[in-house]
Amino acid sequence: MKILMCRPDFFAIEYEINPWMKVAQKANLSMAVSQWETLYQTLLQCGALVELVEPEAGLPDMTFTANAGLFYQNKMILAHFKFKERQGEEPFFLNWFQQRGFEVINLPRPLRQDTVFEGAGDALLLGDTLFAGYGFRTDRAFYEQASYLNQQKIVYCELSNPYFYHLDTCFCPINDTTAIWYPAAFTKASQQAMAKHAELIAVEETEAKHFACNAIAVNHHIIMPTDCPVISAKLKTLGYTVHHCDMREYLKAGGACKCLTLRID
Ligand code: ARG
Repeated sequence: MKILMCRPDFFAIEYEINPWMKVAQKANLSMAVSQWETLYQTLLQCGALVELVEPEAGLPDMTFTANAGLFYQNKMILAHFKFKERQGEEPFFLNWFQQRGFEVINLPRPLRQDTVFEGAGDALLLGDTLFAGYGFRTDRAFYEQASYLNQQKIVYCELSNPYFYHLDTCFCPINDTTAIWYPAAFTKASQQAMAKHAELIAVEETEAKHFACNAIAVNHHIIMPTDCPVISAKLKTLGYTVHHCDMREYLKAGGACKCLTLRID
């Protein structure tokens, strides 16, 4: 498994674009750097191949590479960020993908202006079915208008709780058929639709708020934030090795393990 990450050299809480972010509640950069480093080393130990994109000054959230795009059927579908605070990341990610020979799908302007898409923060594959999150940072219309997506294999997941504003904050595939999730983050109709297409293991509220679902599955390893003992024990009984990484500096930005990574194969 190949993953793209970005060192948090410029990470900071400089604006508020989700309910977790409070400018008054600053991140400690040296702690953030060491938390990122531990996550990076853990991924390498679990057998992931990690590539790096250069961080850019003035783009404090660029370290959350999950939002850069979605790798789908060998193409990179580029994100179009909702907030101007993050839109400046787009050209740097585009450049990185193009220089490495990715076939990049970049929507033409008229569609871009009114349709936002925040990449693998909101769109996650379970086997070959795309769980398409929308409601806060991605528009449902983005998926509906995208002719390169297999429309037969999309499950729409409407997010309803602003604290779980990206799909990867409340849903995480752990193999081709099973995912952990926090059901209360979704509308009732979406909960039902999702349950038809996946085996779902619920995470309790306290652990969901510690971003238990913002986890990364690499082979039989699952890397998730600290303070999630109940789901961790459940995953162990299913045969997974669970690694906990302290992500407290990133929680202040509304992110954790998974947000700091993007699958690129
Ligand atoms: N502060 C960032 C934002 O609001 C956090 C992004 C977290 N990324 C994710 N994939 N959930 O955009």
